[in-house]
Amino acid sequence: MAVENSRMKGFYRLSVSERLNQIKESANLSDEAVNALSSFAELDVEASDRMVENVIGTMSLPVGIATNFVIDSKHYLIPLCIEESSVVAAASNMAKRCLKNGGFATDCDPPVMIGQIQVLEIEDIGAAENAIAKAKDSLIEECNNVDSTMIRLGGGCKGLLTRAIESNIGPMLVVHLLVDCQDAMGANAVNTMVERIAPRIAKLANGRVNLRILSNLAVHRIARASAVFTPEEMDNSGDRNNGLAIIESILEAYHFAVSDPFRATTHNKGLMNAISSIALACGQDWRAIEAGCHAWASHGREHYSSLTEWWQDDDGNLCGRIELPLAVGIVGGASKIHPAARANLEILGVDSAQELAGVMAAAGLSQNLGAMRALSTDGIQAGHMRMHMRNMASSEGANSDEIEKIAAIIDNSSEAITPLLIRNTLKHIRE
Ligand code: MEV
Repeated sequence: MAVENSRMKGFYRLSVSERLNQIKESANLSDEAVNALSSFAELDVEASDRMVENVIGTMSLPVGIATNFVIDSKHYLIPLCIEESSVVAAASNMAKRCLKNGGFATDCDPPVMIGQIQVLEIEDIGAAENAIAKAKDSLIEECNNVDSTMIRLGGGCKGLLTRAIESNIGPMLVVHLLVDCQDAMGANAVNTMVERIAPRIAKLANGRVNLRILSNLAVHRIARASAVFTPEEMDNSGDRNNGLAIIESILEAYHFAVSDPFRATTHNKGLMNAISSIALACGQDWRAIEAGCHAWASHGREHYSSLTEWWQDDDGNLCGRIELPLAVGIVGGASKIHPAARANLEILGVDSAQELAGVMAAAGLSQNLGAMRALSTDGIQAGHMRMHMRNMASSEGANSDEIEKIAAIIDNSSEAITPLLIRNTLKHIRE
């Protein structure tokens, strides 16, 4: 039902329960809906109210554990927070299929973020660039002249460069600060630095500064993961010839994504299913990660394309590689405040932001293969419907006992899983 008025004067001054009551009235919420919003599971009401504005409740999503991951010779259990079925299963399944060659190998850049300062109304851009270049060391020193754990641990501003760009409203000078954020995502540190040196930049450039903000296109913070899958591992019963045929179809699917942005978008969405849900589970800014990865998919290329690369080696193995910017942190932000995010990081057992980025990249690669393998063999609906079967049975009104009975019957049948099949099976059980 649409509300009559979205203007809620003084809403922010109310307590959480007063706000929820007001929303209940305005949106005509049922008691069930109010209870759902106010259950405050792992994130209590005070912590929620401190995190964002106008809080009325919290919302839960399932956390599933992806298994079988061996990354750089270390075993990982990977928490994914996601509402979509099949993602956890697909990632786990594919991770098992590269164990013969040692699992995944990663290689992640140091955690360097970019902070941008936009300078306008400059008469002589060349002279401005020279003046800034001359003052570079002292500008960097000014950025780092703060009492911060990140800087004490060896991080901080490490570089500064300028880029002259053209725009529809004329030329602009863009200053980039390169900041080593250590184990933090780094948004706060970077934004503080660009704001601190902006007045000096304006003077040196003899121009006017407008924006001062980090860039989510974290091109210096690239995470890479690779793995090799034998033909035997690609087939469920270990048959090499079947495995080789599956690899051929997967490579056809991959080249479709490389050449067609319409397909590449869905291909990349699939691998972001794993990356974003690990980000969410571990309290990361998953919107920043999504923005950065999708921008990277067209950065320096002719068109938007695949974030993964797949090819076959001389022994017939399927080789995969992923490369994408992952600005993640294990200190600060929600990763520290949110109790479930802390617990998920504990399950993951990562010691650095770089290690977390490597795990996410490996899970993305695994997920991508899972999707391509399903799409180029049975199609995704069969597996998806099987995973979704319990939900469908519940929507048909089955109780937990009946759901399990339906699942057992349907698991042993080769019929396509449809709502009608579920409804008829439920009817049959009840008769
Ligand atoms: C669905 O969430 C993800 C897929 O569409 C990915 C893909 O098409 O590669 C299955």
